[in-house]
Amino acid sequence: MPSTGVVPLLGLVRIAVSEAMVRVRPEFAGADPAVRRSERADFQADAALRLARKSRTAPAELAAAIAAELGLADGSALAAVERSGPGFLNIDLADHTIWEQVAARLADDRLGMGAPETGRRVVIDYSAPNVAKEMHVGHLRTTIIGDSLARVFGFRGADVVRVNHLGDWGTQFGMLIQYLDEHPELRWHTAEIDSATSAVSALDALYKAARARFDADGEFADRARTRVVALQRGDADTVARWRDIVAESEKAFGAIYARLGVLLTPDDYVGESFYNEMLADTVDELVSKGVAVDSDGAVVVLSEQVTGPDGEPAVLMVRKSDGGYGYDSTDLAAIRYRITELRADRLLYVTDSRQSLHFRLVFEAARRAGWLTDTIGVDHVSYGTILGPDGKPFKTRAGGTVRLMDLLDDAVAGARAVVAEKNPDLPAHELDSIAEQAGIGAVKYADLSTSRVKDYSFDPVRMTAFNGNTGVYLQYAHARIRSILRRAGESTAAVVEAAVPLEPAERELALALDGCATVLDEVAATLEPHRLAGYLYDLARAFTAFYDSCPVLVAPEPVRGNRIALCHLAARTLAQGLDLLGIAAPQRL
Ligand code: ARG
Repeated sequence: MPSTGVVPLLGLVRIAVSEAMVRVRPEFAGADPAVRRSERADFQADAALRLARKSRTAPAELAAAIAAELGLADGSALAAVERSGPGFLNIDLADHTIWEQVAARLADDRLGMGAPETGRRVVIDYSAPNVAKEMHVGHLRTTIIGDSLARVFGFRGADVVRVNHLGDWGTQFGMLIQYLDEHPELRWHTAEIDSATSAVSALDALYKAARARFDADGEFADRARTRVVALQRGDADTVARWRDIVAESEKAFGAIYARLGVLLTPDDYVGESFYNEMLADTVDELVSKGVAVDSDGAVVVLSEQVTGPDGEPAVLMVRKSDGGYGYDSTDLAAIRYRITELRADRLLYVTDSRQSLHFRLVFEAARRAGWLTDTIGVDHVSYGTILGPDGKPFKTRAGGTVRLMDLLDDAVAGARAVVAEKNPDLPAHELDSIAEQAGIGAVKYADLSTSRVKDYSFDPVRMTAFNGNTGVYLQYAHARIRSILRRAGESTAAVVEAAVPLEPAERELALALDGCATVLDEVAATLEPHRLAGYLYDLARAFTAFYDSCPVLVAPEPVRGNRIALCHLAARTLAQGLDLLGIAAPQRL
């Protein structure tokens, strides 16, 4: 049963306006009341303005009629309705309605936020680094954005299937295995060198050496090709070697995931190799359905929707002319599996925007094959590039790719400096742990607070600042509220007295707190976590404005109790929101 939770005040107003609209004219049933937050009142409804033309009435007249039908009886939820401008309605809620809402959210361990995705299976493909290669800056955004979406959908009740589509299959492994075989003196296992991360750095370097050898030495190239065939045929020794390389790489990915605090576990590792045995069937099905066709010995899907620069249809390579399968083949088998076996209701693919065409073609083919139907949602969740301080795609000073671990170290060092400056007496081990949470949080927040499609610059100094729209600022806002609550005495239960009049800053804060569920609806609809980040930032500022003008600890009862309730709800909402971004909310900072 989908749980609806506490109906947001916005929803309450929406219902009231809709009902009034129908009383004015029955044909308005189902029309959008167009309610939103307003600067001049708690909410504003624009329905009259929108519907006036169609109903051949002056907007002001229509607005007045709706206002009259909104009838404000004693004790009703609405306190004031006023027509304004050409046909807006300004709507204020009764103070008690807002306090009751605060109390209802506080009483619920999910803050009254419903689980509207209950019963829906959402498959999220994210992170997906490549085996025998180090995770680099290019894997940061997919990992962070994908994880936040997994958290948001999970919180909303969806049955989330995380898939880490590891690049663990392909001809490059034949080359690497052959090279390792011919160089038994090489040491690269975690057990032989200091960490899983360095094992994968070593493999990455060995892979490059193998590649160079392959290009320079024809006989080695032949032996490497034979090794690829052996791997594909399932030759026991070769497969064991491959498994070893995959296992070592997975350890290194695990170390990054643990540090980033993402949800991915080894159970989520479903690499390209998993689909190997489904490839032949997938091709057969596409051919028999007439979706894929022969082209000079290769099997391809020719797009009916996209043409290339030459005017020819864009091509998806289903099987190469030498019988081999590639990236396209695997994604076709994967989408088929996720729909027909996993029974996904929604599929998300979190990869950078350069793969847009690839996914567009995969989705088109899946639709033509009848796997993808209109009841299944499918999205390529694409994103922009991380830039360096010079505004160009991020590279090391030497022009190489930036290792993800180095990037995280830089951010944690930045956070350590600002936290140490603010808390000079903090013992070293506490400083370490706070700096780690603040630094990692800063990296995630810098990413998630930027609109996905935009590029952004990786700037450890700016992103770990205590002021401005940063993760550290939000963690600090949360920690400060916790400290107020500690001073209030942990035992103070939050009892809300609904008859107390609301101060303007209390009202702003309470209305902001009530908006969280609505923002999560938006994040789920648009797949844009920056909406949640922006919401939390506004919430933290609403809290500051409240705290500046409404003393909490020294206020007389029952005002004090109500304000403490607002503090509780603010701290819990911030912590919950940060958690949905995958960011820790330490008690102190
Ligand atoms: N391994 C790929 C890369 O590093 C990303 C895979 C994304 N997922 C997918 N189903 N194609 O670029």
